[in-house]
Amino acid sequence: MANLVIENVKKRYGQTEILKGINISIEAGEFLILVGPSGCGKSTLMNSIAGLEDVSEGRILIDNNDVTYSSPKDRDIAMVFQSYALYPNMTVAQNISFGLEMRKVPKDEREAEVQRVADMLQIGHLLKRKPAQLSGGQRQRVAMGRALARRPKMYLFDEPLSNLDAKLRVEMRTEIKKLHQKLGTTIVYVTHDQIEAMTLADRIAVMKDGEVQQLGTPQEIYDNPTNLFVAGFMGSPAMNFVPAKVVEQNGAFALELQASKPTVVPFPDQESLKPYLGKEILLGLRPEMITEPQPHKEGAEFVVTADIDVEVTEPMGADTMVLTRISEAEVNCRCNPVYPTKAGETIAMMLDTSKAVAFDKDTGERIDR
Ligand SMILES: Nc1ncnc2c1ncn2[C@@H]1O[C@H](COP(=O)(O)OP(=O)(O)OP(=O)(O)O)[C@@H](O)[C@H]1O
Ligand SMILES: [Mg+2]
Repeated sequence: MANLVIENVKKRYGQTEILKGINISIEAGEFLILVGPSGCGKSTLMNSIAGLEDVSEGRILIDNNDVTYSSPKDRDIAMVFQSYALYPNMTVAQNISFGLEMRKVPKDEREAEVQRVADMLQIGHLLKRKPAQLSGGQRQRVAMGRALARRPKMYLFDEPLSNLDAKLRVEMRTEIKKLHQKLGTTIVYVTHDQIEAMTLADRIAVMKDGEVQQLGTPQEIYDNPTNLFVAGFMGSPAMNFVPAKVVEQNGAFALELQASKPTVVPFPDQESLKPYLGKEILLGLRPEMITEPQPHKEGAEFVVTADIDVEVTEPMGADTMVLTRISEAEVNCRCNPVYPTKAGETIAMMLDTSKAVAFDKDTGERIDR
């Protein structure tokens, strides 16, 4: 277990700044997930932590030791790359045990360790094969196995499950979570998968264009995104952004929307709306906050029932997604499948704004709380 401090790390390739001053402090035993659009610098940051790339500015500390200029092998980190390279001339078993051999671990211990990770990754039947005789997903698991056979100070995983089928991916996700709970090793993990990010992370760092936009627990990121980018990035389907006019009604600030008809909804943080009276803001409302009318919520403080025009319905099994338009924005609603929803019809829906958030239309920054 080790703590990791990334201090004002910048990385330039020629004139182009890829990392623009990253500050992240990770506690020993913490599971940190990096997310962000393709090209935002996630792998560059991972390679910098591992020591495979030199940073242009800033410092990296592991267990309070400055390792900014240490070689990768002195950092005691095991990394699984996005493009995993296996030793082509070695069998799967040799690939997995290679790191242990280098560390002079006795043969019987090595064999036991290979067996342990092979069982966990479901590759026991492949141990005698060479990498060329494996599928992409199998190779990825061997690369995982190679990292997991070691007990380093820290694991870096760069999209380690991206080549696996959906079922195996879910199984591996659970295995990684169990592994972390058991060993408590510090992990930095890159993924494009929303569910992986939400379920695995102690904290999530959302990156964009070489900068950290927000660093927080999955629930903080989900409930309290700092800006429009983070709000739109985490969650699937994404948070709805509805243009809304700030109005005054019965002595309170409220938001006017255009559903099937004009509808006024209340908003928790009154103070934040004051400067926007008469102006438009963006109301952020998660799909699960627009549902079929639920009798137990009838009359609750931030709940309004309104008619909406159904454009498309998408049955997903557990829920049905209903696509509509509110104030000209496309809006996803999450309904119970038993509720009748049909494209072209106008139906009643319940809007719950108790957890809604608000953004400045021009800057994209959060204006409430
Ligand atoms: N050696 C290099 N020379 C110049 N530019 C580079 C180099 N390596 C990466 N880049 C650029 O740095 C940026 C960040 O790349 P990086 O691989 O870190 O992105 P990423 O967030 O991991 O993306 P993805 O999700 O697609 O893996 C990209 O614009 C990439 O083109
Ligand atoms: Mg990458």
